[in-house]
Amino acid sequence: MRALEMTDVYKAFKKPKKERKDGEATGVALDGVSLAVERGEVVGILGPNGSGKSTLVRAISTLILPDRGDVRVFGVDAVAQPKVVQRTMNRVSVEASFFKKLSALENLLYGAKLYGVTTSEAKPRIKMILDSIGFDYARAGEPMEHLSRGMQQKIALARALLTSPMLMLLDEPTTGLDPRSKKEVQTFVKQIHANHDSSILVCTHDMGEAEELCDRIGIMLDGKIVELDTADGLKRRYQKDGALPTLEEVFMAATGSSFEEAEERAERRNEKAGVN
Ligand SMILES: Nc1ncnc2c1ncn2[C@@H]1O[C@H](COP(=O)(O)OP(=O)(O)O)[C@@H](O)[C@H]1O
Ligand SMILES: [Mg+2]
Repeated sequence: MRALEMTDVYKAFKKPKKERKDGEATGVALDGVSLAVERGEVVGILGPNGSGKSTLVRAISTLILPDRGDVRVFGVDAVAQPKVVQRTMNRVSVEASFFKKLSALENLLYGAKLYGVTTSEAKPRIKMILDSIGFDYARAGEPMEHLSRGMQQKIALARALLTSPMLMLLDEPTTGLDPRSKKEVQTFVKQIHANHDSSILVCTHDMGEAEELCDRIGIMLDGKIVELDTADGLKRRYQKDGALPTLEEVFMAATGSSFEEAEERAERRNEKAGVN
């Protein structure tokens, strides 16, 4: 059974009524997305800002309802049985939220409790997980707000891992981190994959990260996944006279625009629409 199977998922966001002119088109964030993640596989979604990555992750994690289409996690319909699906997965996003004044340990214990893991069960696991990511346990008692972004992001991953999710959804896990923390978090993700039986979907706008972490990479633009294959497979497909193209060149060939152009376009669109 597949970890994730999405079929023709569609999601549009309506502008607030008062800002909408009669009959004005709504913003399509997911435009018929089909995607499968096999058990134990790491699949990356590479797309510029505004391409629909977070909406995709939110639809899988049942935070939003798709307008149409089918989302199944380990065979369970996410729309019909959100509670069941929530128990098998966990999401880590750039905007991971914590109680800033509470310590890392308190935040982790709170996260565990939400998933029905008791404090006495959670404590030794937390120690083990923090050790494995090179997070100094002595600092786990410090308030979150005293920790660097990189350390906070590690705690966010540790929190997700505590609940032993079978499917991990990582939404830009290293965006905004300095190069060293970025590497550490990527190493941690690889460890998670090696040591736990998890299937991972990782959204990123970092080409290097996609190549480093993922078995297969989907290229996303304007709510569509336009290609999905191994990095090698993608490169071979767009190979011209001998040399393999870079992932960046693949993106350009597959979408007809450069990554930067696509991001600029999305920014302009969002400014117009008044979103963030
Ligand atoms: N809550 C929302 N309300 C209105 N528009 C949204 C909302 N969330 C996302 N969008 C729009 O959907 C599109 C995809 O956004 P998102 O999924 O956040 O992309 P990404 O994560 O790739 O940057 C963007 O145009 C964005 O403005
Ligand atoms: Mg996003």
